[in-house]
Amino acid sequence: MKKKGRRSFLEIVTAFIGGILGLAAGIPLIGFAISPAFKKGESKWVDLGLADRLKNSRFKKVDYTFTAKDGWVKATKKRSVYVTDAGNGEWRVFSRICSHLGCLVRWDESKESFLCPCHGAIFDKTGAVVAGPPPEPLQKLETKVEAGILYVKET
Ligand code: FES
Repeated sequence: MKKKGRRSFLEIVTAFIGGILGLAAGIPLIGFAISPAFKKGESKWVDLGLADRLKNSRFKKVDYTFTAKDGWVKATKKRSVYVTDAGNGEWRVFSRICSHLGCLVRWDESKESFLCPCHGAIFDKTGAVVAGPPPEPLQKLETKVEAGILYVKET
């Protein structure tokens, strides 16, 4: 009886130590496996081409693709923007996605406005809402020029 009690005590101690070692090894592995799910997509600079080629007082439509990583998913995304050189080194790059429900806006040179075909929204040349239901202006992308190349920041 005494021998059996010692054996079960040793079994419990061994299982306890094994459990602790399993947790010590398993928690970092689990953290490593699920941590990408909690990371926000990284922003990156995307090459739009030669700044001199895009220099224009009128808005020019530019389409481009870039690779974005969000968690475990790495995907190629397409974007369409309007670009203009606002002078004094300032660039204006607006997403074409309407801030109401996501339709694509188009620049109307005669009205000097962005028009949304879905619900009649009108945005001025600064991207501000002039008419219609959108709750926010057009998204303005951050820009930089390096070695003559215009870049936009994608998130
Ligand atoms: S989606 Fe542009 S106004 Fe509704």
